[in-house]
Amino acid sequence: MNFELSEEQLAVKEAAREFAQNVLKPGVIDRDSKMKYPTEEVKQMGELGFLGMMTSPEYGGGGMDTLSYVLAMEEISKIDNSCSVIMSVNNSLVLWGLETFANEEQKKKYIPKIVTGETIGAFCLSEPEAGSDATSQRTTAIDKGDHYLLNGTKNWITSGGTSKIHLVVAQTDAEKGHKGINVFIVETAWDGVSIGAKEDKLGIRSSDTHTIMYTDVKVPKENRIGEDGFGFKFAMKTLGGGRIGIAAQALGIAAGGYELAKAYADEREAFGKKINQHQAVGFKLAVMATEIEAARNLVYKSAWCKDQGLDYVTAGSMAKLYASDVAMRQTVEAVQVHGGYGFVKEYHVERLMRDAKITQIYEGTSEIQKLVLARQIQKDLL
Ligand code: CAA
Repeated sequence: MNFELSEEQLAVKEAAREFAQNVLKPGVIDRDSKMKYPTEEVKQMGELGFLGMMTSPEYGGGGMDTLSYVLAMEEISKIDNSCSVIMSVNNSLVLWGLETFANEEQKKKYIPKIVTGETIGAFCLSEPEAGSDATSQRTTAIDKGDHYLLNGTKNWITSGGTSKIHLVVAQTDAEKGHKGINVFIVETAWDGVSIGAKEDKLGIRSSDTHTIMYTDVKVPKENRIGEDGFGFKFAMKTLGGGRIGIAAQALGIAAGGYELAKAYADEREAFGKKINQHQAVGFKLAVMATEIEAARNLVYKSAWCKDQGLDYVTAGSMAKLYASDVAMRQTVEAVQVHGGYGFVKEYHVERLMRDAKITQIYEGTSEIQKLVLARQIQKDLL
């Protein structure tokens, strides 16, 4: 077993760390409190190649492996999880989904714009009544010959206010259940697409999460991805990889909290010595470091499985399940190490604690990850 990162992977990690610490950190508290979309920062992420890291150079991407992407996600998530969720959805759901399953014409038309950040992509699956139960799509796309007529509402859409290209999952034949679901590339400039208000969230507050309404939107036939009925599999396959990205985000949140707690404990004195010399704090840091390292091993392993062409759905679910719990648990501890200072925004750690919660919810709640894993166990695959 080789746990060493390659020189290229270390360079990616370092570049992401520098970007996060020097560019993202200075304005992150202000963006978070004002729910201000990181326009300039996302533009720079596009210029630096963080928006299309795994996409093939043929379409303008970085052609990197999943582990490099995970390393960049981890560093950026130590600081700004609004930027890292935008990055994650763009890389693993939208671009990976398009490059893997779209036809050549669709790839050439849409991928280059999304890779550079000329427009961010959005993945529109969740609905008011279809979150975890993704087969229960109410959005319909009725076959009208040369086009589909799209009607419905999508909820909690990351980049919903800025994205100009949506991947929309819709029911085309209710009688066929999940086999009657398709996914379409929809341009927001088309008639009938309207964007609801921006959600006021607990965490990842500067990412733009919106409800989207589609009313009699004419979607050209050529904008369906894959064979008729492929939509649910498309969603499941892209989410399988997406969960590795969110697991990396959770890892970054936990590791960011640890870095802050350790730095504080190294400086702060109480009862005549640095607080890192008090067992109450030292033991907390020891457990934090151990759980974070265990999460890191699961997350990197899931990325490695994907890069090796092995089954990564199980590894990704395990990584997301564990890393998101570690993020939640250990950011609470990081706040506790800071005492009263941890409760104020200036020290950054309370923001990480708020951001941690969403990693147990989006791209499949912790309960969905357990369901995926329990089914593997029932099939004697685990
Ligand atoms: N790969 C390929 N096919 C898969 C698959 C996978 N990983 N998982 C399931 N399938 C296939 C099954 O084989 C089955 O096909 P067949 O009938 O041909 O065998 C079909 O899909 C239906 O599978 P299930 O019977 O298992 O479906 P289910 O209704 O029981 O649901 C589920 C399975 C795992 C619960 C699924 O609904 C799910 O993952 N739900 C969570 C949805 C989710 O993650 N939403 C997140 C929204 S996106 C987001 O959050 C982005 C963001 O903004 C950050």
